[in-house]
Amino acid sequence: MKNSLASPLNLPCGVFIPNRFGKSAMTEGLADANDNPTEALIKLYRTWSDGGAGLLMTGNVMVDRRYLERAGNVVLEDDQAMPLLQRWAREGTRGGNQLWMQLSHPGRQCPRMVNSQPLAPSEVQLKLLGNFSKPRVMTEADIEDVIQRFTLSASLAKQAGFTGIQIHCAHGYLISQFLSPLINHRDDQWGGSLENRARLARCIIRSVREAVGPEFPLSAKLNSADFQKGGFSFDDCITVARWLGEDGLDLLEISGGTYEQASMLDLDTAEVRESTRQREAYFLEYANKIHESAQIPLMITGGFRNRDLMENAVNSGEVDLIGLARPLCTQPDAPKQLISQSIDTVDLFENGLVLGSGFWGNNSSSSMVKSINAFGQLGFYYWQIIRLSNGLPAEPKLGVLKAFTRHMLNDFRLNQRRKKAGNKA
Ligand SMILES: Cc1cc2nc3c(=O)[nH]c(=O)nc-3n(C[C@H](O)[C@H](O)[C@H](O)COP(=O)(O)O)c2cc1C
Repeated sequence: MKNSLASPLNLPCGVFIPNRFGKSAMTEGLADANDNPTEALIKLYRTWSDGGAGLLMTGNVMVDRRYLERAGNVVLEDDQAMPLLQRWAREGTRGGNQLWMQLSHPGRQCPRMVNSQPLAPSEVQLKLLGNFSKPRVMTEADIEDVIQRFTLSASLAKQAGFTGIQIHCAHGYLISQFLSPLINHRDDQWGGSLENRARLARCIIRSVREAVGPEFPLSAKLNSADFQKGGFSFDDCITVARWLGEDGLDLLEISGGTYEQASMLDLDTAEVRESTRQREAYFLEYANKIHESAQIPLMITGGFRNRDLMENAVNSGEVDLIGLARPLCTQPDAPKQLISQSIDTVDLFENGLVLGSGFWGNNSSSSMVKSINAFGQLGFYYWQIIRLSNGLPAEPKLGVLKAFTRHMLNDFRLNQRRKKAGNKA
């Protein structure tokens, strides 16, 4: 039988992705004190480009230096680091793959250490570990500015040689905040009805499309749902997916969750349906309906670990691109090995990386504890990314607590460095 994972995927814009693996975005934390790319970041993408995925998505690159997802994010708001960006693009495509830049604005999910007055659609604070300040409600001018910033960053990424763009509309960041009735309480044209809540996403996508032209790949990452009562629902997702398809997207990546409900990492959340939880690729069950609605290529990310399931998902037409993130931190060449059929399954560490048993309290079902678990797990993967960027092999035996501590220390160091360089807002 034909190896479906090795087959190219044609996009509406005319570009093709050479195989069915997409490395999903992972924030690298490898920018310098001025938020520019570094040699370590370039080395990391050289490794991933050699790893065989048809598409590499960068970690979220910020469109505004004042508002980061974390210190260590690359920011792209002018052309001062163009030579480094060009090298990043060149090295990250040396395997013949696509390299798309994920662009994002954190909104209220901007840590206090970066900015003590983040922006948000409404004054709804993220209450998580005391790490996030009360946001300032965005004015019309702020919203217009954000649209222009996404557009400028996309143009600069294209100029640098990145071969596509992804707009981050998921995981509780700014665009996802606008989509959520829990966070967006506005009564102007940017809030209220779904049409109004989706206006920011659509304005950004249309504006970026106009700037990059019809032949340049444009994608969005969207939540299947926020998995919070009263939040962005799957029904909302179906409709927004259709609208984004009409606005000229080439690929829709589906994920789910926010900092408060970390479903993107499959940590047990009260709102996630049991059937979803039991499946290996936990957003796969949404694929058919989204496909029907959006009529554009679909990438599903979250939990894919076995080649059989990946092949079935592509063969059945449920999914066009298999999204992989965490496995590529410990096995950067997993796509190559899966395509050549030298492995049947990828590394699976996440199940052993939950602190729930004993440490934070065994039976706690609070979303706060689950989010702490998510950050503990992230520390493990952040550390593996740092090792890869230094040309070192993964350290899979690293305990989650040690990784978490290392991450906290590193995060503090990165923030201090930015502050010294005069970049803290
Ligand atoms: C270390 C780490 C960093 C991440 N950073 C981002 C990011 O910058 N943008 C994004 O959209 N998702 C991010 N994610 C989520 C992943 O893209 C992906 O949706 C999630 O890990 C589930 O896929 P997986 O089961 O293959 O890991 C991150 C995940 C991890 C583990």
